[in-house]
Amino acid sequence: MKKVIILGATSGIGRELAVQMVHRGYKVGGCGRTEKILQKMENELAPNFIGHTLDLRETAKLDINLNQLIEQLGSMDICIISSGISEPNPLLEWELEENVFKTNILGFAAAAGFVVRYFLNQRHGHLVGITSLTKYFPNKTSPAYNASKVFESNYLNSMRYRMQGKDLFVTEICPGFIDTPIVRKRRITLMAPVDRAAKQIIKAIEKKRKTVIVTKRWKLIRWLIPLTPDWIFRRLT
Ligand SMILES: NC(=O)c1ccc[n+]([C@@H]2O[C@H](COP(=O)([O-])OP(=O)(O)OC[C@H]3O[C@@H](n4cnc5c(N)ncnc54)[C@H](OP(=O)(O)O)[C@@H]3O)[C@@H](O)[C@H]2O)c1
Repeated sequence: MKKVIILGATSGIGRELAVQMVHRGYKVGGCGRTEKILQKMENELAPNFIGHTLDLRETAKLDINLNQLIEQLGSMDICIISSGISEPNPLLEWELEENVFKTNILGFAAAAGFVVRYFLNQRHGHLVGITSLTKYFPNKTSPAYNASKVFESNYLNSMRYRMQGKDLFVTEICPGFIDTPIVRKRRITLMAPVDRAAKQIIKAIEKKRKTVIVTKRWKLIRWLIPLTPDWIFRRLT
């Protein structure tokens, strides 16, 4: 039975991945700050889900936390970093920007670094990072979020070069808009259902793909947007 750790398992894409992966026969360790949801998931997905509360911004405690969870699971074959925050910040308030950097950049890098060291030592493993299609198309309301996704993508590419070996893999998932709490506050059209996105992400992981845009409709949109004149694009974003 393959052991998977999902960071950001309490909501949205990560939560749906946890549910679908347990149903596909994986044993899942899920993390997030919301203990109540992790307890609920443990009850619903027993005995193949173990919850572990952690705050990714507390980077100094991350190794201890992840080692504890790995011990409970028995091992770790796959780690999916799905945690992330997006704060619309039209007034460019520093507190909001900083929180995004702490979570999506410092937290992401600390987690990815721990996981890569663990997999290199174990000589097998698969790191999966959820970035975003916004890495290609910045918008004016969430500059920190967009920049953090460029960072995550670039960091994953470096990790891919570090993870040399026949059983070492890195997958980057770039979602377009998926119907989860992170985007529900905004007026967004063309949102894809989260269960469909999770199904496509699991397929990409099992095929050990390098970079995948989800869902399929967003693959098309990714190629249409650069053809859109800048003045229209500015209005849309
Ligand atoms: N939905 C979309 O349209 C979309 C599009 C492109 C990219 N993405 C990316 O996909 C990933 C998942 O997003 P989602 O849509 O599933 O969002 P979501 O429903 O808001 O879930 C975010 C997850 O991140 C966790 N998290 C946030 N801050 C954390 C922290 N400090 N420590 C630990 N965990 C933390 C949350 O758990 P707690 O609150 O319990 O801590 C939650 O489980 C994100 O990286 C996001 O940027 C999403």
